[in-house]
Amino acid sequence: MKPNTSLLCLGVFLSGATALKPRALASDSVLLTEEDIGDFSAIAFGDETAVLSDPTPSVPCKIFPDDNAWPPETEWAQLNETLSGALLKPKPAAGACYQGPDFDLQQCQFLLANASMTHFWLDDPLVALSEWSQGRTCTLATNPEGNCTRGGFPEYVVNATSVKDIQAAVNFARNNNIRLVIKNTGHDFGGRSVGAGSLSIWTHWLKEMEFIPTYRIGQYRGMAAQLGAGVESWETHNFMVTHNITVVAPGYATVGGVGGWMSNGGHTYITSKLGLGADQVLSLGVVTASGRYVTADPFTNSDLFFAIRGGGGATYGVVTSAIFKAHPQVYVTNSALNLMLVPPSDTTFPQPNLVTDPEIFWQGVGAYYRYLADVLDAGGYGFSYIYPMGNNSFTFTTTTRFVDFTQEAAAEFMVPLYDELRAIGLNVTNPSMVFTGPYATPRSGGASPPSNTRYRSRLLPRENWEDDALWNQTMRAIRTATEAGFDNDFYFHGTLASPTAEVAGWPGRDNAINPAWRNNRMHAMLMDQTPSQSAERDAMFSSYMDLFRAAAPNAGSYMNEGDPAEPNWQQAFYGTNYERLRRIKSERDPWGLFWAPTTPGSEAWAVSPVDGVSVSQNGRLCRT
Ligand SMILES: Cc1cc2nc3c(=O)[nH]c(=O)nc-3n(C[C@H](O)[C@H](O)[C@H](O)COP(=O)(O)OP(=O)(O)OC[C@H]3O[C@@H](n4cnc5c(N)ncnc54)[C@H](O)[C@@H]3O)c2cc1C
Ligand SMILES: *[C@@H]1O[C@H](CO)[C@@H](O)[C@H](O)[C@H]1NC(C)=O
Ligand SMILES: *[C@@H]1O[C@H](CO)[C@@H](O)[C@H](O)[C@H]1NC(C)=O
Ligand SMILES: *[C@@H]1O[C@H](CO)[C@@H](O)[C@H](O)[C@H]1NC(C)=O
Ligand SMILES: *[C@@H]1O[C@H](CO)[C@@H](O)[C@H](O)[C@H]1NC(C)=O
Ligand SMILES: *[C@@H]1O[C@H](CO)[C@@H](O)[C@H](O)[C@H]1NC(C)=O
Ligand SMILES: *[C@@H]1O[C@H](CO)[C@@H](O)[C@H](O)[C@H]1NC(C)=O
Ligand SMILES: *[C@@H]1O[C@H](CO)[C@@H](O)[C@H](O)[C@H]1NC(C)=O
Ligand SMILES: *[C@@H]1O[C@H](CO)[C@@H](O)[C@H](O)[C@H]1NC(C)=O
Repeated sequence: MKPNTSLLCLGVFLSGATALKPRALASDSVLLTEEDIGDFSAIAFGDETAVLSDPTPSVPCKIFPDDNAWPPETEWAQLNETLSGALLKPKPAAGACYQGPDFDLQQCQFLLANASMTHFWLDDPLVALSEWSQGRTCTLATNPEGNCTRGGFPEYVVNATSVKDIQAAVNFARNNNIRLVIKNTGHDFGGRSVGAGSLSIWTHWLKEMEFIPTYRIGQYRGMAAQLGAGVESWETHNFMVTHNITVVAPGYATVGGVGGWMSNGGHTYITSKLGLGADQVLSLGVVTASGRYVTADPFTNSDLFFAIRGGGGATYGVVTSAIFKAHPQVYVTNSALNLMLVPPSDTTFPQPNLVTDPEIFWQGVGAYYRYLADVLDAGGYGFSYIYPMGNNSFTFTTTTRFVDFTQEAAAEFMVPLYDELRAIGLNVTNPSMVFTGPYATPRSGGASPPSNTRYRSRLLPRENWEDDALWNQTMRAIRTATEAGFDNDFYFHGTLASPTAEVAGWPGRDNAINPAWRNNRMHAMLMDQTPSQSAERDAMFSSYMDLFRAAAPNAGSYMNEGDPAEPNWQQAFYGTNYERLRRIKSERDPWGLFWAPTTPGSEAWAVSPVDGVSVSQNGRLCRT
């Protein structure tokens, strides 16, 4: 199937807009041709319509490295030739710490002591930053026990620098029935960027960015930015500075703006003002499961355009680049409020923001959260943690962000909250503004060490802020769960944002993000620091998450920062969009080529992990 140019013209004509085609990125201009394919049938294109009309007997499993059907070295070498040498068979980096031929003391010491302060892990073709997802295999440790095995890491990686590389990889995996995964930064918290026995498409080096001063499509007239799939937030920030614009980008410097962040939602601290990542997209370059490169926008391949913007990464195709809205510069003013509950015996008490009475502490936490509804309605954002410190003591840390508020206006906005806190009995001094400056700030790559946190999430709707009984139930859930955190090694994380349909505008409001986001006040998370994978631990988390579910039964959960074992994930992560998304998935990928946990259609397949880690990717992928 060729990019549907006639539909594009019709759409643009109907919308009354003049098509102003941006210059394509260089990586988007190199396509796989029939000449490249020649007689190498392993990289020939597929045809969805043929499969849909005459379904071949379904293969029970993806093939695995030692299977007879696994392509011989010569075939991989031929693929490598098509890719001009971009096929990698990397060894797990932490192998340097294991006894054996790959042992390298100096490299191991670098990994343990220094790598996490550098961009090292981001430039690793295999690693997923949530270690548990790759299974109990080759984890980084001093004098580790056992052997370094490949585990959930891919077998081969395509270091893609063009659409052609991606097309060849997609065709090769589909034609050979090999598991395919897509990795960008590897930040995914659900094990969606690794997979045992797979071929991985690594989008990390698709780094081009192009400023488009005037872009017109449908109702949109304005600035835009075309971003390659591998661009990280810090790179977008530097680009924004250069062009004096705002592009909505992940808050954390090394998260990718075009990969999983956008395709599952993408919240950040200007989201109540300008929308989610998925709300910014005007057009996408996509390699579909058939290996064809298409444009997806409101008028062309509109099913893909709908689904990819919020309906899950890694399941409809490989995004090669995206055109995002670009807004004029905005500036951000931050206000910090921290409270601490300490035991009466604490010798540092009294001090401002310290309290010894738990009732007063939790009333203060509740007052802050409830007040944030007003901040969100004014385009702001809240970011908070409640850490149990032992002996029933807790710290509550918050940053409140205002967009396009002066320091004075932001301070004034917070005064009613501080009055309320003092009335409750908290000894707080008036708000301090910790930062005011442009959203677009020069940044450097920063560090991203692998970690082991597992998330559980619930999106809490605005009704819970408006009804006293629901509000009390919401705060009881937060308090009960967080108080259990100390004995169970987890803590609470709440981010507050309101990306309403109105804020999303056109075409964002018609995308596939979890509808719970449109009505959201707080994304409430329990952060498991020692995911042991025992059934008891899972049941313990379930019981606390049930308190949140009971408080917001019709809402949902945010997949990017949610639990890969979320019960009824179809409803929780996709809400009423689920059936439509699953239909698009089955039409666009009748082979079941793209697969990642809890993406639409993924229930048709499952991994059987060989390491006892129930949600790891260390095992063969088979049909259920
Ligand atoms: C430190 C940290 C802070 C974070 N903060 C936030 C935050 O503030 N707000 C927020 O919303 N989220 C946040 N996240 C979560 C983040 O959105 C997810 O981890 C997200 O999946 C990262 O996307 P990625 O492309 O960078 O990572 P990857 O792990 O590389 O990819 C994630 C998923 O997207 C798929 N994918 C990647 N690229 C493509 C592509 N080109 N085409 C198709 N599929 C693709 C992958 O297969 C995988 O399923 C944070 C994560 C971390 C680690
Ligand atoms: C692919 O080719 C390049 C360059 O020829 C080579 O360096 C690389 O090792 C090859 N990859 C594999 C997996 O053999
Ligand atoms: C780690 O960094 C420090 C400070 O830059 C340096 O002195 C040390 O040699 C490094 N260690 C390794 C093992 O690379
Ligand atoms: C590690 O590998 C060696 C050599 O292959 C083998 O003898 C040993 O049993 C392995 N150890 C474990 C814990 O699997
Ligand atoms: C991947 O490709 C990029 C761009 O060509 C290159 O800079 C990088 O070194 C490659 N990475 C690996 C691990 O080969
Ligand atoms: C940046 O853009 C703003 C409008 O958004 C404009 O007022 C300002 O002059 C621009 N700055 C520069 C240096 O061009
Ligand atoms: C309030 O904080 C001040 C320090 O700023 C301290 O002197 C005072 O004792 C505190 N009052 C109470 C009631 O804790
Ligand atoms: C808890 O309080 C007890 C009694 O005051 C004290 O002995 C103990 O050290 C405290 N533990 C922690 C973790 O603070
Ligand atoms: C909510 O809790 C407050 C404080 O405990 C209480 O005064 C109020 O009556 C409760 N409201 C409802 C409707 O339960």
